[in-house]
Order: sequence, then structure tokens, then C-alpha cells
Amino acid sequence: MPTLLAVETSCDESAAAVVRDRTVLASAVASQIEEHARWGGVVPEIASRRHVEALPLLIDQVMAESGLAFSDLDGIAATVAPGLVGALLVGSVTARTLAALHGLPFLGVHHLEGHLCSVHLGEPLPPGPALVLLVSGGHTELIRLDGPGRYGRLGRSRDDAAGEAFDKVARLLGLGYPGGPAIQAAAAGGDAQRFSLPKGRVSLPEGGFHPYDFSFSGLKTAVLRLVQGLEAQGGPLPLADLAASFERVVAEVLVERTCRCARDQGLGTVVMVGGVAANQRLRTLMAERCAALGLHWRVAPLAYCTDNAAMVGVAAAQRLEAGAHSSLKLAVTPRLPLEQADGLYEALRGL
Ligand code: KG4
Ligand code: ZN
Repeated sequence: MPTLLAVETSCDESAAAVVRDRTVLASAVASQIEEHARWGGVVPEIASRRHVEALPLLIDQVMAESGLAFSDLDGIAATVAPGLVGALLVGSVTARTLAALHGLPFLGVHHLEGHLCSVHLGEPLPPGPALVLLVSGGHTELIRLDGPGRYGRLGRSRDDAAGEAFDKVARLLGLGYPGGPAIQAAAAGGDAQRFSLPKGRVSLPEGGFHPYDFSFSGLKTAVLRLVQGLEAQGGPLPLADLAASFERVVAEVLVERTCRCARDQGLGTVVMVGGVAANQRLRTLMAERCAALGLHWRVAPLAYCTDNAAMVGVAAAQRLEAGAHSSLKLAVTPRLPLEQADGLYEALRGL
């Protein structure tokens, strides 16, 4: 049961955590959202600077809360890919410096492997392979999970990620950033059936549609046209109905394609992780549909859906247990498919 300090700085949350295997001993997140909100999105230069300021304090805080000394740790982990390069560098240089200083292994973690591992912070998964819907601000992917480090992608968004769609639609409705929580709040009490919106299917060259891929850019444009039409009629925008209708369509698309994929592929467990997995309508609809289809269903605990360092620690603990560690010279990478996460490690045994 390895004990690790982990840090996460791939985007706009600075985070540190101490985990022992799958148990969180301490976890802290310093969100930069307010700083970026006035620009309507994440400004990479500001993100890096804020990570530099926040991270040392967060590390002190989680080490103190855990009651452990560095000599009690088995390794130090940081997200190294994918993400904003400057932001990744802050966490990764901090972690590898501490690792070198204390003579501990360094583990460079793939951010999406971190999100996948967030589900282990909740109820244990049933045995056997699972289908993971990973829905965040940067990714919307359907991944077959055959065990630690064993992934195969079955579906993905061809354009915007689901979280990006929430953020863009929230912006055009004037609801602020980040869009997901803003839309969820605005949708409360709204009529989700009032507006019909397209479910964005992906055409195949040979005809027909891809059964599992997603497309959200058309949905965003449809909301824009709808808003323009309503504005032309004058009067206040029916924000609650617009937000609820958009949220319903995103949830339905995600649930329908995920469940179809699970059934087609004979996967009996559905798992949902990532920032958008915090969405209540989506959690409820997925739970209902999985129950109706007799599928097991697991979702990351609410506190660990959006970016955090505990999930990074769990991913690193799995790798360390399998005998892996990363080079202190490992580069940070803005883009890296999840299937290449093994390349971040040396001396891999058993994964
Ligand atoms: O996983 P995450 O924190 O960062 C990435 O790795 O991208 O996900 C952030 C995304 C944002 O797009 C945000 O709008 C969305 O997750 N999000 C939500 C909710 N909370 C966060 N989307 C829908 N409903 C929510 N409650
Ligand atoms: Zn993330």
C-alpha cells in the first residue's frame, strides 16, 4: 500500500494530495477560476503564475493534514501530460525536485489516467472489464478498461468536448465561466423539453453514422441560432428553459451512446469520470438507464470529478505498485493519447 504525495497543475486548478493506496489522507485544491472568469476562459500565462504561488502552500497544507513526514512517503507524483505546458512544468518540476531532495521515486502521471482512477476513490468496481465515459473540459471519450494501465478507446468527440460545449453555451447565454456549474444552476426549475436541439451524429464515409463518436459543435451553433431567434422576438431570454434543454440533450447523447457501446461490446459495468460527471442530470439519467439495462454503474465521487491531485496519487500508486517510476528527465507534453501512458514510466513490470 504505497503512500504518495501528488500534485496536479495541468490547467486552472492547483492541487496537492497525500494518498495511501486508494485512501485520501489529505487533499486540497486552489481554484483559479475567478482569475480566468473575467477573460471568459483559461489564460495559460496567468495559470502558470498562480500555480507557482499556490503549490508550495498546498503541499505544506496536505503534508501537515496527513500528519506524515517526507520520510514516510514511497513516492512523489505530478501530472506531466496532457495540459498547458507552462502549467504542467510548475507541478512537475516541483514534484521531481522534492523527489530528488528526499531520495524518493518520481512518477509522471497522465491526466486522463488520473481521471480514470478517480472512480477508485468511491465504491470498488465489480470484477471484469468496464466501459469508462470520460467527460471533461478537454476530452469526451469512451474507453474500455481491462485493468490498471490497460485501455482501448472505443469512441470520442470529433470536435468540442462535452465540458467545452457547456463552457461555450454558458458564455453565449451570459452565464459565466466555468459553464457546467453555471448551466446546472440556471437549469434548475427550467422546462428541459421546451426546446429540441440536435444530438450531433458523426457521419461515416461508407454511409450511416458512427455508433459511439460524439459531435458537440453543431449543438452549440443550434443554441446560438435559437438565442438569436428569441432575441429578435424581443423580451427576456428564457434562460432556465434554454439551459435545461441544452443540459438534457447533452446528458441524453452521452447516456445513449455510452449504453449502446456497453451493450454492443458486452461490457457489464459503466463508469463515469471527469468534470462533466459532476452534472446531476447526467448522473441521474445514467444511473436510471444503467439500472434499466442491468448494467453495473459507478461514478467518481462528486468531490473528485473536477481536477484534483488525489486521483493523480491513486494513478501513481497503481504504477508504483507495479514496479514503475518515471525518469527525473521526463518531459511534459501538451498532447498525449491515453494509450501511450505506459511511455511515461521505466522499469514497468506487470502493467
Ligand atoms: O475534469 P475537469 O475539471 O478539467 C479538465 O480536465 O478538463 O473538467 C472541467 C469541465 C469544465 O468544462 C466544466 O464546465 C465542466 O467540467 N463541469 C461541469 C460541471 N462541473 C464542471 N459540466 C456540467 N455540469 C457540472 N456540474
Ligand atoms: Zn481534468
